[in-house]
Amino acid sequence: MARCIMSPLDITVEELESLMDTAMDIMGNPDKYAHACEGKILATLFYEPSTRTRLSFEAAMLKLGGKTLGFHSADSSSATKGETVADTIRVMSQFADICAMRHPKEGAALVAAEKSGIPVINAGDGGHQHPTQTLTDLMTIKALKGNFENLTVGMCGDLKFGRTVHSLIKALVRYANVKFIFISPKELMIPSYIRDDLLIQNNIAFREVTKLEDVLPSLDILYMTRVQRERFFNEEDYVRLKDFYILDKKKMDLASQHMLVLHPLPRVNEISSEIDGDPRAVYFEQVRYGMYIRMALILKLLNVNV
Ligand code: CP
Repeated sequence: MARCIMSPLDITVEELESLMDTAMDIMGNPDKYAHACEGKILATLFYEPSTRTRLSFEAAMLKLGGKTLGFHSADSSSATKGETVADTIRVMSQFADICAMRHPKEGAALVAAEKSGIPVINAGDGGHQHPTQTLTDLMTIKALKGNFENLTVGMCGDLKFGRTVHSLIKALVRYANVKFIFISPKELMIPSYIRDDLLIQNNIAFREVTKLEDVLPSLDILYMTRVQRERFFNEEDYVRLKDFYILDKKKMDLASQHMLVLHPLPRVNEISSEIDGDPRAVYFEQVRYGMYIRMALILKLLNVNV
């Protein structure tokens, strides 16, 4: 079976360091990598909408000199005729060298990985995992903070359905003395498989609060998330919770001058555009780091040495 990336834990701490070094080298020396993947094809199989992840993977492969193909919705694929994920990946393995896949169902990428002849990267499976968003987040923190140890990380918003949150927690618990403050309404608290099975079992320090203002001064990182309409079973609950947190200038005045604001994007209302010019608001810079770390990951999974 080709090496596949389903979860951030599929990448060791040492490999992550090496990926981030490669990504930084690509940023500084793009010409050196411009033909690294000539003759290679990346397939993007997206059964669920995406702007950043799909186009970031495509930009990454194009900048490495490779080509891309794929579909951007289940509706535009033979999934509408009943084709299974397992059959689709067997077919794509005939056309492409590597694949990024997003699917609304938890575990769908793993089903693909088990049948695939090429590396499969999970680009988001339901409310479960989104490992390359985590690589993006880690790369951003490393580039702007220098390390992961001793950070107090606040995660705010939809912590129940937010797969980017679940993936990032899994990756950060591997570093010394990282503390978490989870800020959410009670309906959107982190799931028990993260709280009980990961954090409590491993003695990781965390607090759960509902008021953002109370904890802002103590944070090194604030990871804001969108309340995800597509994961709610009823519209009434979504409407009640969607604007629970809005990060604006007044709240930013309570935070440390060194706190960074990250967001996987897209945002809806949870970050006011009035703070976009604040140097601590790094969510668009984060998108850029995401492309470079995906370039590094593609090179690694295709065993391309530059
Ligand atoms: N961050 C992220 O996954 O964005 P998209 O849904 O636009 O891919």
